Amino acid sequence: MVEIFINDSAIKVKEGTTVLKAAEKAGIHIPHICFHDAFPPEGSCRMCLVEIEGHPCLELACSTQVREGMKVYTETENVRDARKGVLEFILAEHPMDCPICDKAGECTLQDYYEQYGLFESDFLEEKERKDKKVDIGKGLILDRERCVLCTRCVRFLRDITKTGELGVFERGVRSEIGIFGDQYIDNNYAGNLVELCPVGAITDKDFRFKTRNWFLKKGASVCPLCSRGCQIFIEYHPGFARFKVPKRVYRISSRVTSRDQSQKEKGYWICDIGRYGY
Ligand code: SF4
Ligand code: SF4
Ligand code: FES
Repeated sequence: MVEIFINDSAIKVKEGTTVLKAAEKAGIHIPHICFHDAFPPEGSCRMCLVEIEGHPCLELACSTQVREGMKVYTETENVRDARKGVLEFILAEHPMDCPICDKAGECTLQDYYEQYGLFESDFLEEKERKDKKVDIGKGLILDRERCVLCTRCVRFLRDITKTGELGVFERGVRSEIGIFGDQYIDNNYAGNLVELCPVGAITDKDFRFKTRNWFLKKGASVCPLCSRGCQIFIEYHPGFARFKVPKRVYRISSRVTSRDQSQKEKGYWICDIGRYGY
C-alpha cells in the first residue's frame, strides 16, 4: 500500500492506483470526460488536471500513478483556472443545443459547466459548422457539433465489441468521428454507445425527441430475456396530473454506469435485445 495526501487528507491505496481513482476512494470527485473505468486512460480531454507538490505543471489525474508521500491538490486556484480553460476550449466549438438536446439533464459537459465553468466566453469567432444528423448505426444518430472527441465510442467498438466501426478522421479543428466506409454499426451492443457518450453526440433513434429525461422515473430491475440477468433500469413516464401523456416505458438503461462504481464488477454493458426488448 502507498500513503498519499489529497487536499491534505491522508489515504492509503494500492500501488499502481491512479490519482483519479485514489481521490474517488477518498470521496473527492475529480472531473473527467474521456476517462471511463472500462478502458485504460486515454488522456485526451484534459479535464482531470490536478496540482502535485514538486511538479512544475499540472498533471492528469486519470493517468498519473500514486507514489509514497505524494501530495495532490484538486481545488487550488491554478486547478480551477485550468478546468475553466479546458471547458472554454471545448465549448468554443460546441453548439448551444441544450434546450433541444436529448442529453440535457444528464450531460457531463452541462454538469461540469455548472460546477466548474460559469464563465463568459472570450471567443468571438464563429463556431465550426458540422453534420448534425449522421446515421451511423441501426439505432444511432451522430451529431458531430456536439461531439467532444473523447473517443469513448471508438474505444468501445475497438476493445469491447471488437468490431471497430468508428474512428477519428481528419486532424486538428476538423477532427471528427465517423464510420469506416460502409461499416454501419449493427452489432448487438451498439445501444451502449448512447449511454457511454458523455454528451448528446450519439443519440438513440428510439428515444430522440420523445420526452425529456427529467420527466422519467427509474425502476431498478433485472432483464428477464436471458439467463445472464443484467441489471437494468426501466425508465418510464409516470404521466402528468393535468394533461394526458401516455404512461409508458421510454427506455431501458444499464444499472451499472461509471458513476455507480458499487456495481461495476457486474459489467457495464447490456445487449440490444434487452435494451429494446420492452
Ligand atoms: S451535449 Fe450537453 S452541453 Fe452539449 S448541447 Fe447537449 S446537453 Fe448541452
Ligand atoms: S461521439 Fe460521444 S463518445 Fe464518441 S467521441 Fe464524440 S463525445 Fe465521445
Ligand atoms: S479524464 Fe483525464 S484527460 Fe480526460
